[in-house]
Amino acid sequence: MKTSRFLGLDLSTQSLTALVIDLSEASIVNRTSVDFDGAYPSYGTRGGVLIGKDPKVVHADPRMWVQAIDDLLGSLGRQGLAKEIAAVSVSAQQHGSLYLNDRAWVALGTLNPGRPPVPQLEGAFSRPTAPVWMDSSTHKECEEITSTLGGEARTAFLTGSIATERFTGPQIRKFWKENPRAYEQTVHIALVSSFVTWLLLGLPAPVDCGDGFGTNLANIQTGRWSRRALSATAPRLRKKLPELVRGDVCLGKVSAYLVRRYGFSPETDVVIGTGDNPSSLAGVGLVGDTSRRAVSLGTSDTYFGYLPRPGKSRTLEGHIFGTADGRFMFLLCFKNGSLAREAVKNQHRLSWDEFSEILLNTPPGNDGRIMLPYFLPEITPLVLAPAVRRFGGLKKDDVQGNVRAVAEGQIMSMFLHSKGFGGKPDAILVTAGGSENRGLLHVIADIFGAEVRSFEVKDSAALGAAVRAARAYIGARGDRRTWGDLAEMFIRTKRAKPVFPRKEAAGIYHGDNGLLSVYEACEKYFLGQAADPKDKITRFRKANRSF
Ligand code: XUL
Repeated sequence: MKTSRFLGLDLSTQSLTALVIDLSEASIVNRTSVDFDGAYPSYGTRGGVLIGKDPKVVHADPRMWVQAIDDLLGSLGRQGLAKEIAAVSVSAQQHGSLYLNDRAWVALGTLNPGRPPVPQLEGAFSRPTAPVWMDSSTHKECEEITSTLGGEARTAFLTGSIATERFTGPQIRKFWKENPRAYEQTVHIALVSSFVTWLLLGLPAPVDCGDGFGTNLANIQTGRWSRRALSATAPRLRKKLPELVRGDVCLGKVSAYLVRRYGFSPETDVVIGTGDNPSSLAGVGLVGDTSRRAVSLGTSDTYFGYLPRPGKSRTLEGHIFGTADGRFMFLLCFKNGSLAREAVKNQHRLSWDEFSEILLNTPPGNDGRIMLPYFLPEITPLVLAPAVRRFGGLKKDDVQGNVRAVAEGQIMSMFLHSKGFGGKPDAILVTAGGSENRGLLHVIADIFGAEVRSFEVKDSAALGAAVRAARAYIGARGDRRTWGDLAEMFIRTKRAKPVFPRKEAAGIYHGDNGLLSVYEACEKYFLGQAADPKDKITRFRKANRSF
C-alpha cells in the first residue's frame, strides 16, 4: 500500500468512473470508466436508466451497478493499482434508493471472492429496481408530505428542500403506498452512495449529510433524521434507514472480499460516501469557499456553492445539502442541461464545435429572441411536461438564433433562480462535459458578469471522492491540509485563459430593460403568473438599438 494513493469512485447516471490520485506526485495516476449502455446492453438502459411506460418513472437495475463495480475494481486489480490504495471513497448520483431484505446483510457480508458478486446478491432486494433522480412520478406523494409538514416553507426549512419528486422520501412513500408488502419486507433502504460503500466495507454503511439532506427526511439544523418527516413519509421508516453522519469520517477497512478478489491491501480505509454534488464541491475546491461558485454542465446542469449556514431568507427553490466539513452547500438542478443543448444541436445538424462557434460569433442578447428550453420536464422551475417556447419572433429554423437562445435561456434561468443564494460570485468554476464548450463559457461569463474558469480534469465528482478519501486519511494522521488545498493540486485550471465578461454585455442582460428581465417575464407568462411579455421585448429592443 502507498500512503499517498487514494481512490475515488463515481457512480453517475450513465457511467462508473475510478480516479486514482497520488498526493506526493500531485498527479492523477489512473482514470478508468465504464459506460453502462455500451458495456451492459442486456440491462436495456438508455443513458444508464430504464424509462417506464409512464416516462415519469425512471429506474435503474442495481445489479448493473454491482456488475460495473466488479469490472472496474477487477481492472484496477489487474493494473496493480488496487493494492496501492490507502483510502477509498464513493460519489454517487443523488436521491436514488435501493430496497434490501433480511438476506442482504449476510449476502453482502459474506461474498465469496472466487465468484462474481451479482449472482450472490440474487434474492437480496425487496424491490428489483431503484428509482433514480430522473424519476418525477411522485407529485401526489410530495403534496401529501407537504400538507402533513405544514406547507412548502416549513418543509423546506426543516429538510432543506420543498418536497421534491426525485427525492428519496417521496419515492419511499410511493413504494409503501403501491406495494406495502414489499415495503414491510424491506429491512434496509440504502442511498446509491451508501449501497456502494456497503459493498466496499462488507457492512451496512451510514449516509452522510451531503446525500442524507437530499431525501426530505432529515432535519438540516440538527443533522439527524427528522421524526416528523419520517412519519409524514411512511410507517416504521426509522429502523429501515442507515445512520446519518455529519461530515466526512473513516468507516473502517475494506472487506475481505475486496482484498481477496481485487487485491486491495487489508489496511485500505473506507471513507464515508456522498452524493455527486457534495463530492463535486470538494473536487472543484469549494469546501470552505464562499466567494466562488460552480456550474456543472452535464446530463443535468447544476449551480452550486458552499454555505457556512443554511440561511433562512432564501426562496423555496434549490436544495441545501451537507458538506465534507460538516457544513452546508446549496444546489439548483436544471434537468434540461446537455440534453436540451444536444436537441438543438441535432435539430440543426451541427457539431459541438459549430455550436460553440455560433455562440462565439453572435452578439449577446439575441435581439430579444428568447427560448424557454424545456425539452424534458424541468425541475427548476417546476414544469411537469416538455414544452419548448419561443418568443420575440424566434423561428424554429433559425440556426444561429436557436443556438444562442437555448444557451442564453439556460444560463439566464440559472442566474435568475440562484438569486436567493447570495450576490454575484467573484468567479465561476465550470466543470463536466459542457465545460469544453468555449462559447458556452462566454455566455456564462457575460450573463453572470463574472470570470469563468474551467479545468483539465472534468471528473469533479470522482476527483472529489478521491480528495475526500485523502483528506480523511491524512487528517487522521495530523496533516492539516484542507479539501481546497488538495483539490488545487489536481484540478489544474485549463491552459486556455479564463473567460472574462464582455463590457457591453452588462447593459444587455442587466437593468430594468435588460434581457434577464425579459426572460423572467417570458417564464412567468408561461407559468401563468404574468401577462404577455411582448411590451418588454419591445422595450429591450429600443434600449439596445445597436442591433
Ligand atoms: C441533484 C440531482 C442530480 C443528481 C445527478 O439534486 O438530482 O444532480 O445528483 O447525478
